[in-house]
Amino acid sequence: MRPAFQIIERCRKLAAHTEEPGFITRTFLSDAMRGVHADVRTWMQHAGMTVSIDAVGNIRGYYAGAQPDAPRLIIGSHLDTVPHAGAFDGILGVVLGVELVELLVGRRFHFAIEVVGFSEEEGVRFGVPFIGSRALIGDIDESLSALAADAIRAYGLDPSKIPDARVTGTTVGYLEFHIEQGPLLESLNLSLGVVTAIAGQSRLDVRFEGHANHAGTTPMHLRHDALAGAAEWIGAVEREATAGRDLVATVGKIDVRPGAGNVIAGSAAMSLDVRHTDDGVRTGAVARLLEGAKQIAARRGLTVTSELRLDQPAAPMDAGLTEVLAEAVRAAGHADHRMASGAGHDAMIMVKQMPAAMLFLRSPHGISHHPDESVLAQDVAAALDTGVHFLEQLERTRG
Ligand code: HGY
Ligand code: MN
Ligand code: MN
Repeated sequence: MRPAFQIIERCRKLAAHTEEPGFITRTFLSDAMRGVHADVRTWMQHAGMTVSIDAVGNIRGYYAGAQPDAPRLIIGSHLDTVPHAGAFDGILGVVLGVELVELLVGRRFHFAIEVVGFSEEEGVRFGVPFIGSRALIGDIDESLSALAADAIRAYGLDPSKIPDARVTGTTVGYLEFHIEQGPLLESLNLSLGVVTAIAGQSRLDVRFEGHANHAGTTPMHLRHDALAGAAEWIGAVEREATAGRDLVATVGKIDVRPGAGNVIAGSAAMSLDVRHTDDGVRTGAVARLLEGAKQIAARRGLTVTSELRLDQPAAPMDAGLTEVLAEAVRAAGHADHRMASGAGHDAMIMVKQMPAAMLFLRSPHGISHHPDESVLAQDVAAALDTGVHFLEQLERTRG
């Protein structure tokens, strides 16, 4: 169990690299990321990997295979966090990947291993997620590169080198270890879950505009209150989600202007996050919600605008690699419980370019994106043991 305790200890050490003392908040290429890069680099080097930081700030540890041009297995997850995060979302998958290589003590396979810590998965800094993994599959377009360029330069990296971050050569596939971030595995008293598919997600900015005015002198029937309109719509968002099976929809952020208690709100700008494993259900719900926003705006003498920031289709995991993973879970003595992921993950980007598989670890109390997020050492040990079996299994198919 020592390696499992070391993994948890390392995740907690990385949690200290934060933009907000007292909380864990680490966004794309913030100064807090420098400490994470330094620690992970040390651990990767100690595990026998050659380490590089690519142009979008992914840290990449390369562990050569038995032959120079061996195909590559990528093991990864993300280094960034949401505001006031827990200590394990993303980072656990990176630290566990490094530990897995450490356990090999120089043993070589017929494939190389690259452990990647992605610099941006949550999408907090620019509202656009998956910048790290998108760079690995060559999916950073002009607009995204322009959006991130200043942050990249300020960190000391060169945006013109983003194309070099793309994975070249043959790959075996991508494996991600991640906490479930939900209550299911705990409810089934299981340590691990084998991910079958990752729900698609729509992320939008929606803005109601009305007329700011005096809260004391403006009669109710003469108001064009942007916040009241937004509040009515947020209720409609919740009704839409509770009406649909397995649909989730969230307004997590709202910015009200001018933002004074004695002023009727002139504008209310908010986020909308809608998810489902069926893309038709998801996009249908988004369309109905935007139509509803227009009707509320018309009735209240407001205007409403929206911008689609992300339309990420649902991503089934690769059946073949997932079967290898399930076999490894069974070989480690655990039930290979299959489940979908409501949370988005880098695996949904990587699967566009190579076979991808994902292993969940139980989230105690189903808590995540919260300081109380945790993980059990016994489950980390189970995942590590599964990882060893996974590498052995891959070697048997390629040896
Ligand atoms: O938002 C998510 O689903 C993930 O935590 N990035
Ligand atoms: Mn997250
Ligand atoms: Mn995550």
